[in-house]
Amino acid sequence: MRIYLDNAATAPLDLEVFEAMKPFMLEDYGNPSSTHAHGRKVRAAIESARKKVAELLNCTPGEIIFTSGGTEADNAIIRSAVDTYQLKHIISTPIEHHAVTHTLDFLQKQGIVQVHHLRLLTNGDIDLTHLEELLKTYPKALVSLMHANNEIGNLLDMETVGALCEKYQAYFHSDTVQTMGHYRHDMKQLKVHGMAAAAHKFHGPKGVGFMYINKDKKIHSFMQGGAQERNLRGGTENVYGIIGMAKALEICYQHLEEHKAYIESLKAYMIEKLITTLPGITFHGHSGNLQKSLYTVLNVSLPESEENDMLLFNLDLHGISASGGSACSSGASTGSHVLGALYPGSKRGAVRFSFSKFNKIEEIDVVVEKLVEIYKVTA
Ligand SMILES: Cc1ncc(COP(=O)(O)O)c(C=O)c1O
Repeated sequence: MRIYLDNAATAPLDLEVFEAMKPFMLEDYGNPSSTHAHGRKVRAAIESARKKVAELLNCTPGEIIFTSGGTEADNAIIRSAVDTYQLKHIISTPIEHHAVTHTLDFLQKQGIVQVHHLRLLTNGDIDLTHLEELLKTYPKALVSLMHANNEIGNLLDMETVGALCEKYQAYFHSDTVQTMGHYRHDMKQLKVHGMAAAAHKFHGPKGVGFMYINKDKKIHSFMQGGAQERNLRGGTENVYGIIGMAKALEICYQHLEEHKAYIESLKAYMIEKLITTLPGITFHGHSGNLQKSLYTVLNVSLPESEENDMLLFNLDLHGISASGGSACSSGASTGSHVLGALYPGSKRGAVRFSFSKFNKIEEIDVVVEKLVEIYKVTA
C-alpha cells in the first residue's frame, strides 16, 4: 500500500462528491446556455451550486465566478483588475505560486505594470511595515498576497493586509487555493476584492475552481467568448466539475473543525516524531509552528547529506508520495523558487509532506521509519 502525503498538490476526490457529479456526466448533459428543458435543468443546478458556494462564503451568488481552476482565477483577477482600474503598480512577493509570479512577470515585461517585491522576514512572513511603506508610495496599487503559502504553509494576516489595502485604496487579491475549504472565509469580514480557489485541493474534482470578485470592485473579462458567467468567463461551463466543487466545499464546511483537529494532530505527531528520531531536523518557514502555519503542510529541512539529492526518489521507491524541491542557489530550473528565495545557497534537504482527512497516524510512523532508513540514522 502506497502512502499519499502530497495533498497540497492535489487531494483525493470524496466519494460523495463523485456521486453528486455522476448524474451530470450521464443523464443531465444539456448545455446550461440552451433554453430548452435539458439546458434549463443544468442551468438550475449550476445556479444552485453557485448559491451554495456563496452561502458558505457569506457573499452573494453574483460574486462567485466559476473557472477552470486556481491558475485561471489568479490570472483573471490580476489581469482584469489591472486593465479595469488601469493599475500601474503591483505589490507582491517572489514566493507566490507561479500562477501569480509568472502573470506579474508577464505584465511587467509588457511594460503594463511595475512589480514591487515586499521584504520577507527570515521565516518567510511578509514585512508588514514595508507593505505600508510601499502602499504609501504607490497608493491604488494591486496587492497580491497568498493566504497560505503552498510550500512552507505560512499564513497571511488577511485582516491586517485588508485594512491596509482599504486605507490606501489598493485592490487586494489573495490566492486562497490552499486555504479554501480548510479555513472559513467570511467575505463580509475580509476586506479582499478578489480571491482564487481550486476544487481539487479540497477533495473536489480537478480542472474546476472559482474566483470571488467583490461586487463593489467589479472587473471585466480577461478573455473573449460567450456570455457565460455574467460575461466574466466565456465558455461552456464544466458542469459536473462545478456540481462536484460545491458539494466538496459543503462537506468541508460541515466538518471543518473536526477535520482540522484531526489533521493538525497528524502534523503535530509527525513533528514530534521527526524531532526525536532525526537529529538536526528543522522545518522550513513556519511549517513547524502549528499556530502560524497551514495545518495541512509540513516542510521538512534535513541536514546536509549526500542522500538529499535522491530524497524524493527514495521516498517514492519506499512507497511514499510527497513533494519537494531543494533550495536552489544556482538559478537552475529545478528546485523550489520559494525555498530558493528564503534559503539561498542552502544544501539542506527539503521535502513537503501534506496531509488530508484520509491519512492515518500509522502512515506517519512508516514515513518516519523510512526517513530513518534512508538517512541511516542509528539509535
Ligand atoms: C497556492 C496555489 N495557487 C494556485 C495553484 C494552481 O491551481 P490549479 O493547478 O488548480 O490551477 C496552486 C496549485 O498547486 C496552488 O497551490
